[in-house]
Amino acid sequence: PTKLILDVDTGTDDAVAIMLAALHPDLDLRACTVVNGNAPVTYCTDNTLRVLANIGKPDIPVYMGAHKPLARPDFPVPRDPNKPKALHGLTLDLPATDVAHRPLHAARFLAEEFARHGDELTLVAVGPLTNLALAIGLDPAFVRNVRRLVIMGGGHHVANTTPAAEFNFWADPEAAAVVLNAGFADVTIVPLDATHQALVTYDDCAQLLAAGTPAALAAELFIRQRIDVHEASEKMPVPGSAPVHDALCIGALIDPSVITTTPVHVDVETTGALTVGRSVMDVHRRGNRAPNCAVAFEADRARFIDILVTTLARR
Ligand code: BDR
Ligand code: CA
Repeated sequence: PTKLILDVDTGTDDAVAIMLAALHPDLDLRACTVVNGNAPVTYCTDNTLRVLANIGKPDIPVYMGAHKPLARPDFPVPRDPNKPKALHGLTLDLPATDVAHRPLHAARFLAEEFARHGDELTLVAVGPLTNLALAIGLDPAFVRNVRRLVIMGGGHHVANTTPAAEFNFWADPEAAAVVLNAGFADVTIVPLDATHQALVTYDDCAQLLAAGTPAALAAELFIRQRIDVHEASEKMPVPGSAPVHDALCIGALIDPSVITTTPVHVDVETTGALTVGRSVMDVHRRGNRAPNCAVAFEADRARFIDILVTTLARR
């Protein structure tokens, strides 16, 4: 199986990604590292522990990381004081667990773990890239120790947080800039362009409900909430559907044909008055810089849904 470490800001779509990674027989989820993002890192860490306990995987270690973006005091918009645990009105309603996160900081764990076992590990980052940027700061060799990196972030034709930017890059643009310009050898980016093609529908939720496993039931709950939110705000091209961004990265690890990638140079705007956090994808090679990423501009919805449902239905 592919051994991976998953950096998360759990999050309902992160939760589905964690469950896929923990349950698919071709994957071996070695640890989760957690970053400030969808909610403060303490809540995201607690969510991560609950998700793992709920599917009978409480032994997968969880490391808590950055409380704040790399260079900014916090996100540029204040959180809703009535819903400190969540963005987008979504909460993660799972039973509490007494399993604790490990005492080591996530960035230090990443630096040390990839120094020891980097040749056999894949790093998948589905939150703001703060922990990865901090790991580079701790150990410059981290960049060559990570042989393979998959990132959910950015958008070429699609944005979801400002008119210009996707959430993970927007939430810590300086960290995204550090990571994109660090020189990692093998980077795949799964942007909104792909996740907005891998839409999950109410009908798919019905399949999860029928499967009835703890993972399928939790995923159904989270995804149905996501669709409800999208139906009320931003309808997707497939009726009654929503993207489950982070889960697509795991789907692509399980079956690479779930996404179609193009080599592109990608950078991120850190200073624009209107465009901070925007991914800049040089699809026409105007910038004279060699591609640094394989970017997924397309996703195979049917294939992804099949993986999602069959994996979470496993007993
Ligand atoms: C990304 O932002 C977060 O809200 C999601 O968990 C996902 O990682 C999508 O833009
Ligand atoms: Ca996320």
